[in-house]
Amino acid sequence: MNEPTTNFTRIVTLTMNPALDISTETRTVGHTSKVRCGPGRYHPGGGGVNVARVATALQASASAVLPVGGLTGRRILELLDDEGVDTVHVDIADTTRENVTVDELATGLQYRFVLAGPHMSADERHACLGALRRATVGAEFVVASGSLPPGVPPDFYQTVADACRDQGSLFVLDTSGVGLANLTSGAYLVKASSRELSDWAGRPLAGEDEQLDAAAQLISKGCTQSILVSRGADPALLVTPTGHQRFPAHEMPTGSGVGAGDAMVAGVVVGLSRCWSMTEAVRFGMACGAAMMLTPGTGICRPDDVWRLFDQRPYASHPNPFSPSTTPEGATR
Ligand SMILES: Nc1ncnc2c1ncn2[C@@H]1O[C@H](COP(=O)(O)OP(=O)(O)OP(=O)(O)O)[C@@H](O)[C@H]1O
Ligand SMILES: [Mg+2]
Repeated sequence: MNEPTTNFTRIVTLTMNPALDISTETRTVGHTSKVRCGPGRYHPGGGGVNVARVATALQASASAVLPVGGLTGRRILELLDDEGVDTVHVDIADTTRENVTVDELATGLQYRFVLAGPHMSADERHACLGALRRATVGAEFVVASGSLPPGVPPDFYQTVADACRDQGSLFVLDTSGVGLANLTSGAYLVKASSRELSDWAGRPLAGEDEQLDAAAQLISKGCTQSILVSRGADPALLVTPTGHQRFPAHEMPTGSGVGAGDAMVAGVVVGLSRCWSMTEAVRFGMACGAAMMLTPGTGICRPDDVWRLFDQRPYASHPNPFSPSTTPEGATR
C-alpha cells in the first residue's frame, strides 16, 4: 500500500469495486458468431475513480483510494497515473474486474457488460478502511461511489459514514441497491438516480412528487442531510430539510451517458470544495454530467465543455437558500 502524497487533499474518493473499462464499437451485436469490434479503448473506472478523474481534470485537489489486484489492477493504476490522478491503493489477492461497453453502430444502441468484481477478504476490506482513514486526514469531502464487490458486507458504507464523522469529513455517497439500503445515518449528500431512489423506496415512483416524497424520507430517517436526485435529461432535484430545488438539464445531442452521474458528483463536490453555494455547485455538476454526453465510451468529460456548458446556464433563476461559506450551509460534521 502506498501513502497519500498530502495530508491536505480536499476530496478523497473511495472505490471498493474499481474496473478496467474497455469500450469499443461494432456494426451489430449478435449471438453465437464472433462479433468483430473496432479497437479497444481502455480507461480506469468505477464510481469513485471516475469522480477523482473528473475532479483532477478540473484541477481540484483529489485522491482516489482503491483496492487493486492482478494485471488489471496494475493497469488501472498506470492509467490513473497517466491522467495525473493521485492514488492510494490497497493490494488484494483476487483480480480487479473488467467492464465492457459496446456501441452498436447500426442502431445507436449501447451494450454495457458489468462484472461482479473480485472477492475481498475481511483483512483486505479493513486495509481499505485504514487507507481511507489515513488519506482523509485533513480532507473536507469523502466521496464513496459505486457497487460493493463480493465479500464486502452490505452495511460497509455505513461504516465509512461513521469513520467520516469521526474524522470530521463530509460524506457523499453515490451507490445503488444494498449499499444505499443499508445507509442509516451520517451522510452529508446522497446522489441517487431516479432508478436508485425507486429501488431504495422499494416501489416504482411515478413522477416528481413521489420522488420528492421518497427523497424527503431519506432525510427524515436521518440517513443524509441532503439528496440530489438525478433524472437523466429531466431536471435534477436537490432536496434538503427546508425544501427542494429543480435544476433543468442541458439540451444535449444523444451521446454516451456512461459516467454522467459520476461527473455530476465530481462537479458538485469540486464546487463545494471551492466554497461555492450548494446551488452553484449543483449547477456545475449539471454541466459536468452534460459534458459527459460529448465524450464517447468511458472517457471523461473535457473541462472546456464543462466551462462552456456552465456558462450557458439554461436555468430559470432560483432563489438561493445557501450562502457561500467555508463550510457548506447547514452541514454538520
Ligand atoms: N440525456 C441527457 N441530457 C442532458 N444531461 C444529461 C443527460 N443524461 C445525463 N445528463 C446529466 O448527467 C446527470 C446524471 O445523469 P443520470 O441521471 O443518468 O445519472 P447516472 O448516475 O449516470 O444514472 P445511473 O447511475 O442510474 O446509470 C443528469 O442529472 C444530467 O445533469
Ligand atoms: Mg450513477
